Amino acid sequence: MTAVLRLENIAKSFLDDRGTRQLVLSGISLNVEAGEIVWLRGESGSGKSTILNISGLLSTPDAGKVWINGDNRTDASSREASRVRSNEIGMVFQSSNLLPELTALENVLLASSKPMTRATITEQLERFGLVAVADRQAKRLSGGQQQRVAFCRALINEPSLLLADEPSSGLDATNTEAILDAMRTGANSGCGILVASHDEVFQQVAHRQLPMKELFLEQK
Ligand SMILES: Nc1ncnc2c1ncn2[C@@H]1O[C@H](COP(=O)(O)OP(=O)(O)OP(=O)(O)O)[C@@H](O)[C@H]1O
Ligand SMILES: [Mg+2]
Repeated sequence: MTAVLRLENIAKSFLDDRGTRQLVLSGISLNVEAGEIVWLRGESGSGKSTILNISGLLSTPDAGKVWINGDNRTDASSREASRVRSNEIGMVFQSSNLLPELTALENVLLASSKPMTRATITEQLERFGLVAVADRQAKRLSGGQQQRVAFCRALINEPSLLLADEPSSGLDATNTEAILDAMRTGANSGCGILVASHDEVFQQVAHRQLPMKELFLEQK
């Protein structure tokens, strides 16, 4: 079976405030298979978001390779990366990143890669309990509602890979449950999911855990 995501020997460093190079990732390899929920866990600053950004082709590694659905996308141009994201990847960020002036429905509609009717989008919003707020501007939604819209948006094109960065942050138990359900449903229909979080709640849905510490040890 082809992995929906494969990272091979990834290294990434950043310049800090003093201009000193800080190595954040080195020798990181991981796989996410179709239908699998993999939970990336580790303390704040350990590099989880950096891994998700590299996996979503939003950031380029200093070394190593990024494979999406069997294709090497390490050196994808920004145009190609954006096409791969639109066709193959759904992303949920640490903050929901919705367009604040647009309604919940418009935010989802804008992300769809093929023309969709209002009825189709409403059907998707319904899965997340969002029909009542479909026409409300994103900036007037609660944090939990925004995060659910972000999830709905990420899944609208039925991506083969979903990257979710701290998707439960700031959510109450009911909203968290909606997100866990969405992850289960996505995985059951074949989507491979990489979720980064220190929230123990992902234990309930994860098929596999990847503690950051172990990822670093594996290289040795
Ligand atoms: N664009 C950037 N420029 C400089 N340093 C960065 C950049 N992005 C991340 N870093 C640094 O890389 C390290 C890892 O950051 P990252 O955001 O990946 O951690 P994280 O595990 O997601 O943390 P958290 O749990 O707080 O979200 C941190 O020390 C951070 O300061
Ligand atoms: Mg992070």
